[in-house]
Amino acid sequence: MNLHELYADLLDGPLNILMSKEEILRTIETPKFSHQGDLSFPCFQLAKKKKQSPAAIANELAGSLDSPYLLKAEAAGPYVNIFFKGNETGKEIMADILSKGDEFGTHSFGDGKVITIDMSSPNIAKPFSMGHLRSTVIGNSIALLAEKCGFETVKINYIGDWGTQFGKLITAYKKWGDEEKVKANPIPELFSLYKKFHEEAESSPALNDEGRRAFKLLEDGDPEMVELWTWFKKESLSAFEEIYELLGVSFDSYHGESFYNDKMEAAVELIKEKGLLETSDGAEVVWLDDKGLPPSLIKKSDGATLYATRDIAAALYRKKTYDFSQALYVVGQEQTIHFRQVIGVLEKLGMSWAGQMIHIPFGLFLQHGKKMSTRKGRVVLLEEVLKEAIAIAHTNIKQKNPNLENAEETARWVGTGAVIFHDLKNDRMNDIEFSLHDMLTFEGETGPYVQYTHARAHSILRKAASSQQTEFSGLKDPESWELIKILNKYPEAVQDAYLNYSPSIIAKYLLAVSKAFNKYYGKTRILEENEELPSRLLLVKTVTNTLSDGLGLLGIQAPKQM
Ligand code: ARG
Repeated sequence: MNLHELYADLLDGPLNILMSKEEILRTIETPKFSHQGDLSFPCFQLAKKKKQSPAAIANELAGSLDSPYLLKAEAAGPYVNIFFKGNETGKEIMADILSKGDEFGTHSFGDGKVITIDMSSPNIAKPFSMGHLRSTVIGNSIALLAEKCGFETVKINYIGDWGTQFGKLITAYKKWGDEEKVKANPIPELFSLYKKFHEEAESSPALNDEGRRAFKLLEDGDPEMVELWTWFKKESLSAFEEIYELLGVSFDSYHGESFYNDKMEAAVELIKEKGLLETSDGAEVVWLDDKGLPPSLIKKSDGATLYATRDIAAALYRKKTYDFSQALYVVGQEQTIHFRQVIGVLEKLGMSWAGQMIHIPFGLFLQHGKKMSTRKGRVVLLEEVLKEAIAIAHTNIKQKNPNLENAEETARWVGTGAVIFHDLKNDRMNDIEFSLHDMLTFEGETGPYVQYTHARAHSILRKAASSQQTEFSGLKDPESWELIKILNKYPEAVQDAYLNYSPSIIAKYLLAVSKAFNKYYGKTRILEENEELPSRLLLVKTVTNTLSDGLGLLGIQAPKQM
């Protein structure tokens, strides 16, 4: 049973011809305060239809509602506020949740359709940035949500391993590089060579031409270039792998930009055949002014391909390979124009599925209000942040629970949980001011707070003599009713989070469950022996299941003890 549905059914009778049940469902609100009722129905829309005042309608409606679950219905100005009988209604809701077991919150509307998720996609020979962290954790959570809704997902790490910058890097390495140093410290060493290249190129611009030539050689398969590039790539991937391991994220494909090197010519041919390729300033472009966009650059004057060319080739390949129903791109909002161009070119090519490509943008991590820049050194190394978070978690555990088994693993879960939750609780479009302190506090609205609540609920279950309860026979206190009402909303939260590509909906939901549970815990002697004990334990069990399932959807582990 779903409370919204229940209320909509009640209203459906009197409102029969005036509003459809869907409209009623959309109109019902959850009041801010519990003294305003469990649910509320505003009568403004009806007022227009019936040409009566909203308050008069609310009054009349309130008097006409009747159900065994209804405690009372009150008109409050233009609203009809209703109060359910917590005990009886709670019993129904809990029976429903318990009958679903592990499937609680699961949907089937995905119907096994395939969704590709382009996510993480860091650039080799550069540090893994906070922006890539956002793409990784948001993308991972969207994938988990999609699976919970019945889709099949393909997580693609589209590694940035191709482009002029690698010509520059190779040039820099050949001029100033030291094999031993790179081996000892690959990413920082390669990255500083890359930075040096840019510094030097300011005074000797001819370097840029050298870099471009080197990339052209690489594209054409020059063995020396390919060997260096392969080495840089291998070193970078193994450094990234450490981060994915810490975050607990895995991928179904690592086909990066270079994978499309031999697939671009066909894409360019296709564009040519359709008569879309035009020369502009020596380069070849597709004009998109009819879509209000700058032209998409397909080939440079020296014949080298570009970022857009590769994304077009990759989209064609992915459609053919996976026959996706949606292709999601979890990439920062600064690439919005790029994706509109790529989709625009595919539309012009007559690809009816171009509309299934969806760019899912997100805001920046800021430092003192400014964008973090790898080039200018305003960058925080994710790996250090994660390790710091894990170390703090470890210290906490040693103080609070010195005998905890697998303390090491728990610390890793809590530390990374803190970092992931810190990101996902924000609406993804918001910029986040980077603060190690905020990221690493475990109190307040944080991942560890939710994890801790989950562990606390588990410890109650451990203390209970017998935990094999099956029948929920009802609870009378108001705190359990508040908690049950929130638990009842889990399936809706999952669906909304997926449909809006918004893991923050789940993060906020879990905070609400945690707060309601902690309030219940503070007010109730949960383990007291009386006839309500089995019901209380079942409620606690449902809390642990929902918290761990929800954390799981964010890509966060829920340790049973911490
Ligand atoms: N490597 C790119 C970057 O770091 C992100 C790639 C995003 N995905 C894509 N299909 N373009 O900016």
